[in-house]
Amino acid sequence: MHILVTAGPTREHMDPVRFISNRSTGRMGFAIAQRAAEAGHTVTLIAGPVTQPTPPGVARVDVVSARDMLQAVTSRLEHADALVMCAAVADWRPRETSGVKLKKQIMSATLELVPNPDILATIKPLKHNRIFVGFAAETGDPIPEAHRKLADKGLDMIVANDVSQPDAGFEVETNRVTLIPRAGKIQALPLLSKLEVAARIVAWIEAAAASAH
Ligand code: CTP
Repeated sequence: MHILVTAGPTREHMDPVRFISNRSTGRMGFAIAQRAAEAGHTVTLIAGPVTQPTPPGVARVDVVSARDMLQAVTSRLEHADALVMCAAVADWRPRETSGVKLKKQIMSATLELVPNPDILATIKPLKHNRIFVGFAAETGDPIPEAHRKLADKGLDMIVANDVSQPDAGFEVETNRVTLIPRAGKIQALPLLSKLEVAARIVAWIEAAAASAH
């Protein structure tokens, strides 16, 4: 299969040195790309600004903002059989972006924001029989929100992730997730390395693709 994976945060710049972003390090998405490539799939990894090394055999495309990521995903979707949206896409961006560093004397105390496009919602009409997997990173019980996002975003499966736990979510090597498919069995996985979680997600995609044929 050809699997498209997004990973990391996006950065929404106000000027060349200041931006809005989040704590995503890209580890989970890079682990999925690595495991998918090791399983023999063709993998394109669309990465926000992160310091992770590119896994062997993976084609990497670096992006900065949510709009860059949307463009990179849209232009590569045609050749993909599956998309895993692991990226922590910034929901908002500054209304104005300056090409030069803003001086504090001229900056307003209020930063005006405008909403970014929702990548999954935007590409939903292009899904056809492709497998779409999303992530729901929540603080607190992620299951109800994950169910809502699974339906709203038209996904085949969502990975529910409580990021308020110290051993799961951002900036750690382990994760504790629940795989919630649109149809089929919910799998609450124990605490695992991100590589092992990635292997389970890749195995789920392979099984979903096999059952669709
Ligand atoms: N996502 C996306 N485009 C965005 C924001 C999120 O495609 N602009 C994707 C994420 O990659 C993830 C899924 O949607 O796979 C859920 O992301 P999340 O940030 O949890 O959801 P939001 O829709 O942003 O909802 P909220 O901020 O209300 O939790």
